[in-house]
Amino acid sequence: MKKNKNKKGFVDVVVGLQWGDEGKGKNIDELLSSGIYSGVARFQGGANAGHTIQKGNLTFIGHIVPSGCLQKNVELYIGNGVVVDVVSLIKEINELKKLGFNVIPRLYISNRAKLVSYLHPFLDKAEEFYRNRVSTKVGTTSRGIGPAYSDAKARRGLQIGDVLLSDFKEKESNLSKFHMNFLNMYKEKYGFEIPEKEIKEARSKWINAIKQLKKLQICDLSFLVQKRLAEGKNILAEGAQAIMLDIDFGDYPNVTSSNTLPANVCLGLGVPHTTIRNTYGVIKAYTTKVGGGNFPARIADKNIEKLFQDAGHEFGATTGRPRMCGWLDLFAIRYAIGLSGVNKIFINKADICSTDKIKVVTGYKENKKILKEFPLYLNQVTNVITEEIPGWGNANYGVKDKKKVSPELVSYLKYIKNKLSDLNIEILSVGTGPDRKHFFNWD
Ligand code: GDP
Ligand code: IMO
Ligand code: MG
Repeated sequence: MKKNKNKKGFVDVVVGLQWGDEGKGKNIDELLSSGIYSGVARFQGGANAGHTIQKGNLTFIGHIVPSGCLQKNVELYIGNGVVVDVVSLIKEINELKKLGFNVIPRLYISNRAKLVSYLHPFLDKAEEFYRNRVSTKVGTTSRGIGPAYSDAKARRGLQIGDVLLSDFKEKESNLSKFHMNFLNMYKEKYGFEIPEKEIKEARSKWINAIKQLKKLQICDLSFLVQKRLAEGKNILAEGAQAIMLDIDFGDYPNVTSSNTLPANVCLGLGVPHTTIRNTYGVIKAYTTKVGGGNFPARIADKNIEKLFQDAGHEFGATTGRPRMCGWLDLFAIRYAIGLSGVNKIFINKADICSTDKIKVVTGYKENKKILKEFPLYLNQVTNVITEEIPGWGNANYGVKDKKKVSPELVSYLKYIKNKLSDLNIEILSVGTGPDRKHFFNWD
């Protein structure tokens, strides 16, 4: 790590600009390999994330351990804004150990991060069951994210630091009783029942994971990160989910339960806003989405959607659910850039283009009215304005040299730059395959 003499370090941020799964894990690993950063931090979300890193024969999908896990010199931080699924955390640590990466000495967890309890995933499922009765499901990842953040906001949740305190058992027991009241209500009123055996198993796994958690480095992470910055070291903040899934600015309620905007780095990590330098945005050359709510850019022709799904292996890294596929949605991306202040972007999956012609969404309509602003609810959007441009089939797989890029893809990249020219966006690199080495530099 290059140290700035007498100079404070900075925090750079990576966020997804669409509906998640843009390939953030790959770009984060790519940025970290530059040696500029001494640490990488998760600041929001939980094990709902699924970030894939592929290096040669090695593929790792991280849900809760930051994507720097395969960079041996990088410290890994889990910030106070994260809801921590301990069972996933311990599982990932063990998986990484088997792959030859012992992350324990460089993993630091904020004592103020929130603990996902063993009953949160059941509550998540119960809430979805109820939503489905009265309207439509959000289509959550069932990782207990909503209930864990609800408990945190209602000031009854458990913090990671609690596991080290003498009253942890009592606090946990009170919270679990409270949760069981809800689960019993769902059972008695709506017939939603979780078999007792499943609850017992979940509890036993959770208790074991808590025992392991106690041996990890639980600390005042805000203090540690500020110390690193004072030493002149730089940190990369790793966004999970994406701007269109932000609790405040996404298509509520079809969103996740945290703020995914870069603004949340300060709150979810405990650093002042003056430390933030660059914000990098990640998009893929088309759009995917998992879960409920309208998806205006969705490819109408099911056969074409299937071509993209198959070619791009568009199945959730966390739940395995098929991802819906849509055209690149520049109207949504503009909105996301405005909210996130992104000035540099990565474009992934430029090797996936299964048709002769591709479309790009440039605007939304509510019946005959062209929308100037992003709508409150995406179900207001009745149709979209599209432009059609030539596609490139599978011509660009694995291309690493800008000079070898097919002319159609060159036109596509110029088209995107031109459409976003007023936003001064720099396209840093373009992904042409899942491996971290599959990309070419652009601007
Ligand atoms: P994240 O959640 O944003 O980190 O993205 P995911 O890991 O959930 O999904 C991205 C998927 O696309 C993973 O399977 C990656 O290995 C893969 N991927 C990333 N970049 C590229 C690319 O440029 N081309 C192809 N074909 N696959 C990619
Ligand atoms: P990464 O970090 C794509 C979606 C779910 C659901 C909604 C709410 O891999 O990009 P939640 O479980 O968070 O309460 O679900 O958000 N969702 C994601 N979609 N990628 C993700 O993460 C996601 N995390 C949550 O599908 O629609
Ligand atoms: Mg993902």
